Amino acid sequence: MSGSSTAAASSSGFAPTAAISKEQAEAIYSRGLEGIIAGETAVCSIEQGGLWYRGYEIHDLANSATFEEVAFLLLEGHKPSAAELARFKSEIVAERPLHPSVTAFIESVGGFLASGRAVPMDVLRTAISMLGHTDPDAQDNSAQANLRKSKRLLAKIPTVIGHMQNVIDGRAIIGREHGGDKSLGHAANLLYLMTGRQPSAEYARVVDVSLILYAEHDFNASTFTSRVIAGTLSDLHGAVAGGIAALKGPLHGGANEMAMEMLKEIMRDVGEKGIGTPAVEQWMHKAFETKRKLMGFGHRVYKNGDHRAPILHALGRTIAATDTQNPGGHHALRWFELGEQVQKIMLDRKNIHPNVDFPCGMTYFTMGIPVPQYTPIFVASRITGWAAHVMEQHANNRIIRPLSRYTGEPPRKW
Ligand code: SDX
Repeated sequence: MSGSSTAAASSSGFAPTAAISKEQAEAIYSRGLEGIIAGETAVCSIEQGGLWYRGYEIHDLANSATFEEVAFLLLEGHKPSAAELARFKSEIVAERPLHPSVTAFIESVGGFLASGRAVPMDVLRTAISMLGHTDPDAQDNSAQANLRKSKRLLAKIPTVIGHMQNVIDGRAIIGREHGGDKSLGHAANLLYLMTGRQPSAEYARVVDVSLILYAEHDFNASTFTSRVIAGTLSDLHGAVAGGIAALKGPLHGGANEMAMEMLKEIMRDVGEKGIGTPAVEQWMHKAFETKRKLMGFGHRVYKNGDHRAPILHALGRTIAATDTQNPGGHHALRWFELGEQVQKIMLDRKNIHPNVDFPCGMTYFTMGIPVPQYTPIFVASRITGWAAHVMEQHANNRIIRPLSRYTGEPPRKW
């Protein structure tokens, strides 16, 4: 390295630390931290070959667990006994209602939400900060306080989502006093809060499985954001607000909304009659030529397919095929037929697989869930993963502070 750039390097603050030399640091540099181990966790393991939450494999959980059981597993660290699960569920139901100031805030931005000037992910992010102002444990980072706060957020996020949808629809707030219907489970109550109708057991189960699939995923961008914030010993609400801001991005959680918007764009361009014809191939060819990122496809870690995608695809397709009354309309199955053709072209031409966000879009659309609520529902699930990682970080903390490679001007006189 030339003298001036060495000087520049030292002015950028690089100094060999006890742990690693400058040569080692340069050798392991990887853009976007691709392939870099940035910390340790006992919460989740993700590899090409699988996905485990605290040792339980995702297919096992999707087939045999409920989201409440998975939430307990992630937050409290083990599979709940029947008594523990009953206690956990009653705690969550009791914590569903919002502080009146938070409901008043959501009502106050109803016009901005209805016009699209404010988007639900941003209003949810603000509501989380407001929930922090009204939480008696807000500034307490102890394990017990963090667990209490995690359960409150798990309980209240669906209520925020429901209240937002009510003001968007110009209707009275549903569940203002109790945060919904106390007799309903977590997933069913989420749908009830948005629509005012008790969902079918089938719809509730599909949402429940989607919440299980979305709950946790190792050091993804939003979880790592939350850990960096917790690593300064900042509080859980701040870490979750940061996680929401990161998840909103279309390269991350926002892809489930953008994947459905992309399918709607293709459907508009080729028409229902164009499904299965070369018209879709031509559309995709144009997208490839313009280097367009197709939403719901690709993954930083999964290069041979996202284990979660086929699980959700099958559930959504079944609803589209069998429930002719589904809100997605009589042609709901057409969305899956179009989606499957897009998937085949992506695989044949680019060897790129769909991630969990692709089937999520089609599935939620078939159930009549408004598109701008897809990523907030992702938050209603991922709050469990974020909170588990924040608690783990606080329990055995070292501030997260990587280095950078300096590429700016050499030192110069002012
Ligand atoms: C989630 O990390 C997690 O665990 C996230 C998540 C979780 O549970 O938390 O799994 C949830 O966020 C899933 C991902 C949702 N995002 C999207 O669907 C957005 C579209 N996908 C891409 O932007 C991309 O695939 C990423 C962001 C997901 C991964 O990006 P990488 O690892 O940086 O890969 P890359 O962009 O370097 O792509 C490698 C190549 C590139 O080709 P070249 O430029 O080298 O020629 O593959 C191409 C890319 O152009 N490519 C795509 C593509 N994804 C990758 N080309 C078109 N469409 C795509 N979607």
